[in-house]
This record gives sequence, structure tokens and C-alpha cells, in this order.
Amino acid sequence: MSIEEKDLPFDEKIIINKWSHKNMTIEDYKKLHEKTIANIEEFWSSIAKELDWFKPWDKPLVADPQPPFYKWFAGGKLNASYLTLDKHVASWRKNKVAYIWEGEPVDSKGNPTEVRRLTYYDLYREVNRLAYAMKTKLGLRKGDTITIYMPMIPELPIVMLAAARLGVIFSVVFSGFSATALADRINDAKSRVIFTADGFWRRGKQVRLKEVVDEAIKSAPSIEKVVVYRRLGINDVPMTQGRDQWWSDLLSDVPVNAYIEPEHVESEHPLYILYTSGTTGKPKGIVHDTGGYLTELHATMKWVFDIKDDDVYWCVADIGWVTGHSYIVFGPLLEGATIVMYEGAPDYPAPDRWWQIIERYGVNVYYTTPTAIRTFMKFGDEWISKHDLSTVRLMHSVGEPINPEAWRWAWKWIGRNEIPFGSTWWMTETGGILVSHVPGWGLIPLKPGTNGMPIPGVDADVVDDEGKSIQGKRGYLIIKKPWPGMPLTIWGDPSRFVNVYFSKFPGVFYAGDWAIKDDDGYIWVLGRADEVIKVAGHRLGTYEIESALISHKAVAEAAVVGVPDQVKGEVPVAFVVLRSGNAPSDELRKELRVWVRQVVGPIAEPSNIIFVSKLPKTRSGKIMRRLVRQVVMNQPLGDATTLEDETSIDEAKKAYDELRKEIGST
Ligand code: WT7
Repeated sequence: MSIEEKDLPFDEKIIINKWSHKNMTIEDYKKLHEKTIANIEEFWSSIAKELDWFKPWDKPLVADPQPPFYKWFAGGKLNASYLTLDKHVASWRKNKVAYIWEGEPVDSKGNPTEVRRLTYYDLYREVNRLAYAMKTKLGLRKGDTITIYMPMIPELPIVMLAAARLGVIFSVVFSGFSATALADRINDAKSRVIFTADGFWRRGKQVRLKEVVDEAIKSAPSIEKVVVYRRLGINDVPMTQGRDQWWSDLLSDVPVNAYIEPEHVESEHPLYILYTSGTTGKPKGIVHDTGGYLTELHATMKWVFDIKDDDVYWCVADIGWVTGHSYIVFGPLLEGATIVMYEGAPDYPAPDRWWQIIERYGVNVYYTTPTAIRTFMKFGDEWISKHDLSTVRLMHSVGEPINPEAWRWAWKWIGRNEIPFGSTWWMTETGGILVSHVPGWGLIPLKPGTNGMPIPGVDADVVDDEGKSIQGKRGYLIIKKPWPGMPLTIWGDPSRFVNVYFSKFPGVFYAGDWAIKDDDGYIWVLGRADEVIKVAGHRLGTYEIESALISHKAVAEAAVVGVPDQVKGEVPVAFVVLRSGNAPSDELRKELRVWVRQVVGPIAEPSNIIFVSKLPKTRSGKIMRRLVRQVVMNQPLGDATTLEDETSIDEAKKAYDELRKEIGST
């Protein structure tokens, strides 16, 4: 949600008494932080040393061939699967639970009917067996790419880890994405193999996945093999002979004790590609390396989550997004943590499912989202108040700004007004958390809604249009020095990498977010400064939704903007110009909403569609989304001098007001 700066409690300071062993004054934090960024190479090397390398690096940081392309820990060799599995299996953690997985289905009393506990040794076994099959049966080799389109089941991390073991680069596509979105991502990565499942449970219903994959493959010719995990056990799954194979068949003759030597990959070897939305139609394949990425995850698991061996840790994200990659899979496994993983909806069968899960497993460290918190607030206090959440000792939120009201509610009901609770800022591109409270390193006073300070070793700032550091005023969030979780590039498009992130302010990373640095130096990220919106924390390019609308036969033009929503933070609203011969109607409106769900995915469905005869444009024909947004927000237009035809704005206003009256909303 774009948060208004005037609403923010810049001066409120909450000291967490229970954390007295690590409390820090703002001044002390700044002084120590200064030291960490004075020599980032030395500082991050001291962290990277805590991982187990097959071969030490020659240089902590080299630009190759030139900035902003960097190799962290150049010359070093390691393996992500070795560090997250073999290392623990060789220690007392061998029989420690890695994942506690809970499926969505419940019995008549509301108790889960499927709970699986996988120890580090179990995970190690399964990953080795799958890696063995990948190598010997599917012929996958270091540097190959695969796509993973799977629900929230333990087999999803198992595929990721098996790929990492071989140096195979994987691309996970969120299981809520449509066939078109999946095909685009397969084609860009040129994957030879896709891993999927028959489906999964969501709100008591079976969601089928294999059919989506079949549809995608029609326009994704690189796919040679499809491996299907039986999650639901439905028996009418279409299987294409020679191409499709059940997971159980693939593994049937693989020995239980199969062992695959983990590939010694270079530190800069790509671990994965993860597609994310930008301001143009084509999603960007963000590429993360191995050594730098894992170093940042190791650091943030300790500093941000203060992770301890006896903790039960739960991050509620879906592994289809970066939060899950970093903080359900690689980060916590690297630390040998016990991780809760839940398949289904937070409000199934009742709005207290999440609180039950916290109680059932005694969750200690909890990573959640603002949209979830606002949803629970709406359900009413009675759902949360009947649960004992006192095991939770630390929590954070992520994905979008958290409004102070939601922060206070969660801090009271989950945090008993006494535990550290931050809002961790980062993005797909940054690999891990960059601006956050760091209770495991040194905790400064909390302020409801802030992101806190840049973490150690990260040089973040807020600047004006000229790139000058500013305080107390809205500006752009930037990262001034390389950090180990930074992307290697955009897959197949290095020049776009430079243009998108390193050209607005030459040489520094431009995040695309508005932020304020307050007088104490705390950073408050306010929302996106570009044409990206966050719907329930999910990142969508307005352009993707527009392209989907335009691909419908009745639509000539479309402008999509994000508008604030009490629960989801933001929702997309579309202004649509119809092709001649088509008349606006409620049916068509419905049809277009369904269309967008099908083309992009359910999260992209516009909350409203407004039919107009023209869109506000500049004289050169560019749609002025900023003006469209002002109309929807009922705000003064600001500078509209480049607008070609003012009547377009009047029409949009009128149409929107009518719709507002009709639906009785504001
Ligand atoms: C965008 C990145 C990386 C976590 C999942 C989202 C917004 C993320 C916060 C926060 C305010 C936040 C930003 C950012 N965002 N966390 N704590 N406070 N805004 O990753 O999908 O790549 O989205 O999410 O706008 O640019 P993502």
C-alpha cells in the first residue's frame, strides 16, 4: 500500500526490554554500521568464511567485465545442497527435523489429516535420489536449466536442492500463474525439463496443475520431459507417452542410498533464475549466484531472525516467490533450522488456521505479511484471542509497507506488546533482506511501520532526482555499494540489467521504491515509484495486465493502475477502450476479469473495469497512468501540461464516479 508520509509515527520509539542483551542505541548502531560499509570486501569475507567452501576464494569482489556485473568470492567453489544437507547430516543435526509440513485437508474436528516431518537425513536421502535420477535418467548436467511448477509440498524444495546439487539452474514458477505466464518463463529460460504435480488443495478444493503445464507446453517447445508428482492422487491426469513421467516411476529403481557427489560450482555459478515483473511486458529473469547469495542468507538468518537451534521457524510465503526461495529453503536450511511449511489457505477451514499452526508446532520465529495481518484484523479479534501464541519470540513482515495500525494489531495479538517486530525491506533482485531491524546483531528501538536501518554491510540511502542524499523528504531508495545477494544479471539480457537498475543513478542500484529517511536515519519504504503494483504483496507490472486485456478481441486499449485497498494494500483497476462494434456491459466486464485471471493468473484480476472512449495520453501517444491514478484516487492532477486531450480526464472521472456510486464504495 502506498502509505502517506503524514500518517507515519516518525518519532515513536519502542524499546524491547526483553532484548536488553542486544539492545543498541541509534548512535551506536550507526557507528558500527559505518565500520561495516567502510570495507565491504573485508566485512562480507568475514561472514562468507563461516560457510564451508570446497575451495577458498581468491578475491572477495571483482567486477567482470565491468560494474555493475560482479563476482563475489571469485575463484571460490561451493555447493548449496552440500551446505544445506551434507553438512548437517555429518553433525548432530542428522536426525533433527528440517521440515514440518502440514497439508490443507482437515478431519471433522478441524485437525490436519496430513502432517509430514522430514529430518535432515530424510531430505538428504530424497535429494540424492532425485539428483541421481536427474543425472542418469534425464541427462541433466551443470548449467542446464529446468522449470519447476509445483505447489507447497516438500518435493518442491527437494527438486530445488537436487538441481543445486548438480549445478542445474532452476526456475520456479509460482503455481498460481497461468499457462501463458508459465510458457513465457519456460521459453525465456529454455528449460528442457519441467517438474510439476497433479495438483494441490486450496480452500477445500482441488486445484489441478498438470493440465496447465500441458497447455503451456503447446507453446514451449524446449520441454522434452515432464515429471509429475502425485500430490492429490487424482486418476484422470493426462499423461503424454514418452514425454511425461510420474515421479514415483522415475525414482522406482533408484537405490535408497543413492549418493551423488555435490558439484563443486564456482561462487558465481547461477543457482537459480526467478522471474519478476517490471515496467514492460516481458518478465525479468533475475539470476542469483551461489556464493554471494548464500553468504547474505547466512548473515540475515542470524541478524534478522536471530535463528537458534531449538527454534521452530515459520515463513508463510509461497516458495514460488523469492521470499520462499531465500527464507523457506536456502536460508533456514543453511542454518539447520526446523521449518514449518503449510500447503493451503490461511482461513481454511476457519480464520484461525494459522494460529492453530503456531500453537500446534510452537512456532518461535514468525515471518508474515501485511496483507495477512489486515485480513485477520478484519475477521475479528475473537479468532486470534482464543489461541496461545506465547511461543513466538520474534517476528517480521515483508512484501509491502505495513501500516502502523496493522503493525500495532499484530504486535499486540501475536507479539504480546513485547517482542521485536520489524518490516524487512528487500526484493527479488536483492536476494535477501537489506533494510531491517537486526535483533540478532543489535536492536535499535522499533517504530510501528518503519523498515529500520540498512543491515550491516549494506549501504542504502534515500536520494532526490539528482541523486543527492535527502532526509525527512520522500525520495528514491538506492543501494550504493555492491552486496553479496545482488543479481548477476537479467537472464539473457545484460543490457536490460544495466538499464533498469544502474542507469537512473549511474553505478548505484535503483530499487524503484519511494522512501523517506527520517531524522533518526530510519528508512520508511512508501511504495513503488514505477508502474509496478503490489497486490497482497505480490508484484505485478500494470503493463502485464494491460497486455492481457489488449489480447482480448473486444479491447482496443487499456490502462491499469494500482489503487489502495484496505486489505490487499493495492488492487489493479483497469480503464478500457473497446474496439468498435463492442458495447460496454456488465457481462463484458465480467468476461474481461475472467480473461485476465486466465492469461496472467488470479492475483492479476482487476477489482474494477471502467469503460471509456479514450485514455489520457501525452502528445506523443504515451498513456499517462499517473493521471489515471489521480482520477481514481480523487486527487489533484498535478502537472498535466503534456496531456493531449483534457476531455479524456473528464470522461475517466465521470465514468469512475458512476461506477463508485453503483458499487457504493469509495
Ligand atoms: C517490492 C519487491 C522480497 C520480499 C518479497 C517481495 C516491496 C517488499 C517491503 C517492506 C515496504 C516492501 C517494495 C519492493 N516491499 N518488502 N518491508 N516494506 N515495501 O519481493 O516481489 O520482488 O517485490 O516489494 O516495493 O520493491 P518482490
